[in-house]
Amino acid sequence: MNAPAAIGLTGISHHYPVGGGSLRRRRFQALRDVSLSVSAGQTLGIVGESGCGKTTLTKIMLGLLRASEGTILLKGRPLDGYSRMERARLLQAVFQDPYSSLNPNRRVIDIVAQPLLIHRLGDARARQARAATLCGLVGLPERLFDARAAQLSGGQRQRVAIARALALEPEILICDEPTSALDVSVQAQILNLLLELQQRLGIAMVFVSHNLAVVEHLATHVAVMQAGELVEMADTQTLIHAPRHPYTRTLLNSALSLPAITEHAAGSAPTPGTAS
Ligand SMILES: Nc1ncnc2c1ncn2[C@@H]1O[C@H](COP(=O)(O)OP(=O)(O)O)[C@@H](O)[C@H]1O
Ligand SMILES: [Mg+2]
Repeated sequence: MNAPAAIGLTGISHHYPVGGGSLRRRRFQALRDVSLSVSAGQTLGIVGESGCGKTTLTKIMLGLLRASEGTILLKGRPLDGYSRMERARLLQAVFQDPYSSLNPNRRVIDIVAQPLLIHRLGDARARQARAATLCGLVGLPERLFDARAAQLSGGQRQRVAIARALALEPEILICDEPTSALDVSVQAQILNLLLELQQRLGIAMVFVSHNLAVVEHLATHVAVMQAGELVEMADTQTLIHAPRHPYTRTLLNSALSLPAITEHAAGSAPTPGTAS
């Protein structure tokens, strides 16, 4: 029998309450009957315009938000059955805004070592050594290890966030628009870094973007969302070359007019010490 998917969602729907204190409670349906799964070694790109429910879906995958309906399995077991600590070992995230996700006053090396400290892995020296290795893995030059997060550029911060996310060797990495707040040239470096790490570590990755060109660059499979529904899902080549849903075709047409990011990505491999 095949191993269960790293993460599997079945029939996920979500309603947000809206309209404040009115007696007639209104609800907004942000997700409708979403099912998908991602296995080790796969990157699922989730694409769709702003407001279609991508972040809601990632919050549900991370257990930060409880879905109104549906089930989530991590390696075949319900997400609810894992403790927070167990979940953190299995599933980590990189968010859009590296300015709000890192404490500006903390040193880079301590930010990356923090998950190891929380999970009581190794002694102080071993944790610092492991954090230094992780910083190297994401291409941060050694001179920045002792810098405060506030002193870093957006791209450098996102490298720190990625190193921290990898500290516990998660099996699933969920990236919600991790490059959307960065300059185009830096976006390409971070995308290539994620691609390289995913391939090297063989993890299951979920990569959310409003830009199909970005998703196409690093996803093995693509899920297209529109207004809270998953309208099409296929392996990347099939989706690009034989799209079935009209909305996918619309996204493809607009992605073709946005070649800048992927051209950068194709031309610039990140090398340690040149992180920007
Ligand atoms: N806490 C909330 N309360 C009410 N509506 C919300 C809340 N969070 C998100 N929404 C709405 O749900 C929809 C999906 O939002 P979101 O998941 O953030 O989309 P995306 O990440 O694709 O831009 C949007 O219409 C948004 O306004
Ligand atoms: Mg979002």
